[in-house]
Amino acid sequence: TSELKKVPIPRRGVDYRGKIVLAPMVRSGELPSRLLALHYGADLVWGPETVDRSMIGTTRRYNSESGTIDWTRKPSQGSKIPPGAEVKDSIIYRIHPEKEAGKLIFQIGTSNPDLAVQAARLVAADVAGIDVNAGCPKPFSTHDGMGAALLKTPDKLCAILEALVANIVPEFEIGISVKIRILETAELTETLVRRLVATGITGLTVHCRTTPMRPRERAIRGQLRMIANVCREAGVACIMNGDVGSRDEAMKLTQEFGVDGAMIATQAEKNSSVFRAEADGGLAPWTDVVKQYIRYGLETENKFGNTKFMLTQLIPGKAPVYREISPCKSYTRICEMLGYDDLIERAREVDLSLDIDPDNAGKK
Ligand code: FNR
Repeated sequence: TSELKKVPIPRRGVDYRGKIVLAPMVRSGELPSRLLALHYGADLVWGPETVDRSMIGTTRRYNSESGTIDWTRKPSQGSKIPPGAEVKDSIIYRIHPEKEAGKLIFQIGTSNPDLAVQAARLVAADVAGIDVNAGCPKPFSTHDGMGAALLKTPDKLCAILEALVANIVPEFEIGISVKIRILETAELTETLVRRLVATGITGLTVHCRTTPMRPRERAIRGQLRMIANVCREAGVACIMNGDVGSRDEAMKLTQEFGVDGAMIATQAEKNSSVFRAEADGGLAPWTDVVKQYIRYGLETENKFGNTKFMLTQLIPGKAPVYREISPCKSYTRICEMLGYDDLIERAREVDLSLDIDPDNAGKK
């Protein structure tokens, strides 16, 4: 057997080979969602895409109440603050320094090498890798040349990756990776991937859909073996993404297509225990997953609106309590409604800490 070529993995970085990982998801990939995925066995977690300009200018601080590291900034000028109200800094990025140690990949939205390096520098000492988003098809990303727009400007995408490799890797000793989509033909994809794997990156994730494809359309596997081969030749780990349903399915698919790992988004958003192997218990009932999620939400004092949103993802629409979520106006009410008596004391504390009235019954 020939020896496996590998772009060297920096000392504090991760080898993406053999990993089943949580995908980057705006809103659905905030801290408690990532802790939940890790709880159920995700090997690595990607944070939600964060745009370079929103990161630049933030202040890093340790938050002793939530046990987190927060990057915060003053509310932007022009935001409406009632006279006399306390002005709270907005949290741009939040991580758990112990529970996510060595497991968290920061994903950056960027179309500019200098801004990418400036933003990456702010978090590089606290994360295990920096990933560039070259797959988001939404106009808010692409109109600025970010996300999937980078697939059409390979010179720029390579310049961004090379700048991160040159400026972040030696100083912080973590790896750089990129997340792309497939292009219309295998030839076009191959040309792009050959360039990307020569930039010094250690990982490449391919979402097996083209940019115009909608999430409901089935992922296309036809180019995957070729991409895996190009990556292997260059010594770069290849992670597949798109319609991967569980750890067991991921293990089969990675074998079948010769890729190094797999990334799960939608199915993990619905039930994070997809990361647990059948042999270890497999999919957990939503009731277990929701309670564990609330524990992490309370532990990290997650934004209440985000917690409520995630509950509507994790609780099946058919469950009777589903309709009871939206009227709840506090963590205390949520815990009462779900019957989590053991969490109510902590819920009251968190409500007060977040300036939420715990007794707001929400029935106005
Ligand atoms: C995403 N996706 C995504 N991709 C990315 O690179 N950065 C991001 O911030 C986001 N945000 C995001 C939010 C939500 C709610 C969803 C559902 C998806 C895309 C995601 O990472 C993944 O590539 C696709 O969802 C395909 O994987 P699945 O869903 O088929 O497992």
